[in-house]
Order: sequence, then C-alpha cells, then structure tokens
Amino acid sequence: MKAFVVYCHPSEDSFTRHVRDSFIKGVVDSGNEYELSDLYKMNFQTDMTEKEYLRDSNYRTTPGLAEDVLAEQRKINSSDAIVFIYPVFWTDVPAKLKGWFDRVWTYGFAYGEKSMKLLQKGLVLCTTGHTKSELKKYKLLESMEKVMLGDRLFKKVHDAEFIVFDGMTKACDLREKNWNKNLETAYQKGKNLFAPRS
Ligand SMILES: Cc1cc2nc3c(=O)[nH]c(=O)nc-3n(C[C@H](O)[C@H](O)[C@H](O)COP(=O)(O)O)c2cc1C
Repeated sequence: MKAFVVYCHPSEDSFTRHVRDSFIKGVVDSGNEYELSDLYKMNFQTDMTEKEYLRDSNYRTTPGLAEDVLAEQRKINSSDAIVFIYPVFWTDVPAKLKGWFDRVWTYGFAYGEKSMKLLQKGLVLCTTGHTKSELKKYKLLESMEKVMLGDRLFKKVHDAEFIVFDGMTKACDLREKNWNKNLETAYQKGKNLFAPRS
C-alpha cells in the first residue's frame, strides 16, 4: 500500500517537520510505501493561472493541464491514502497548500466527472498554537475540520480522520511537555495507516 504525503511548512526548524518524519517512519516500519510532496522544497506554484481559472470555472475537461498539476494527480491516483501535514495558519492550511488545492483539485479530476481514485484513507495531521479548548470555545476547531474533511476530502476517501497537535507554538509550555507524546502519536498514525480503525 502507498501513502501520498502532502507536506507544507516553510522551515525545517519546526515541530511540524518532526511530525512528518515520525509519520513517515511509521509508514515505512509497517512495510508500506510513501511518496512525499514537500511543497516549499518543490517551490510548488501557488497561484492559479487565468487559463486554469477559465477551464475550471467553465466546467471544461479540456486537456492541457500544467505538468506540475498532472504530476500531483498521478501521485494521488497511484496511492491508497492521502495525508496532509501542515501548521495551521489563520485557521486554515498555509497559502501554499491552499494553492495546491486550487490547482490540483481540477474539474474532471476532483469534481464533475471525477477521474480521481477513491482512496482508502484520508488523514490530516496539523499543528496549532492554540489549545483545543481555546479553538473549541470559538468554534474554530470544527471549522478547520469541516473545511478539510467536509469539503476538500469529501467523497474522495473511504475513511477520513483529522488530528490536531495543539498548543505547539514556541510560546506555549505544552510544546515541550507534549513533544514526545505527539510524535509517538504521529508515528503510530503512520504505522497503522492502513489498519482498520477501532
Ligand atoms: C502566520 C501564522 C499564522 C498562525 N495562525 C494560527 C491560527 O490561526 N491558529 C493557531 O492555533 N495557531 C496559529 N499559528 C501558530 C502555528 O500553528 C504554530 O506556531 C505551529 O503549529 C507550531 O509548529 P511549528 O514549530 O511546526 O511551526 C500561526 C502561526 C503563523 C506563523
């Protein structure tokens, strides 16, 4: 089985990149494969072009998608799971990952007459500065989950899961306190990615 990992963080000096490494170690230790798109390292183009906009907004399936978009779509269709790993910026994915959705989730692939494979698993591993109780208080946690699972992954995966590693900003004591526990969770999520969920 293969996991396609879409990773988005501007710095290797981050907790999120340890989540990436622990998760991938879990996938490998379970005898499964992975493919990584590290969006900053790839310098993935964020902005939709006018040509891309006109194609999607007119519900056209005309060919001529950009090669970087087709490459991402091929990675998806050759995988069994898709995993998003990122820090939450302004209650959403970083702009670079938002741009990935804008450009890769094209008409005829992710919506309309879809050619996107129905994947076995969709997993979101995100890190936040706020604690879950703070995010819940203002209903931000459910907004973040709803957008990722109820829209971006909706009907694209059999089983969807949203995990938040909270209180992980450098200003929060929980960062150090929960560091190892959180990375163990990320590792186990990788190791059990294809196991049935209890
Ligand atoms: C531009 C920016 C926006 C952020 N917005 C949020 C936010 O809306 N909610 C939140 O809980 N944390 C927010 N954070 C905090 C990051 O999510 C947090 O610093 C990160 O998860 C810590 O992990 P890291 O070491 O991998 O960066 C923001 C951080 C930055 C730099």
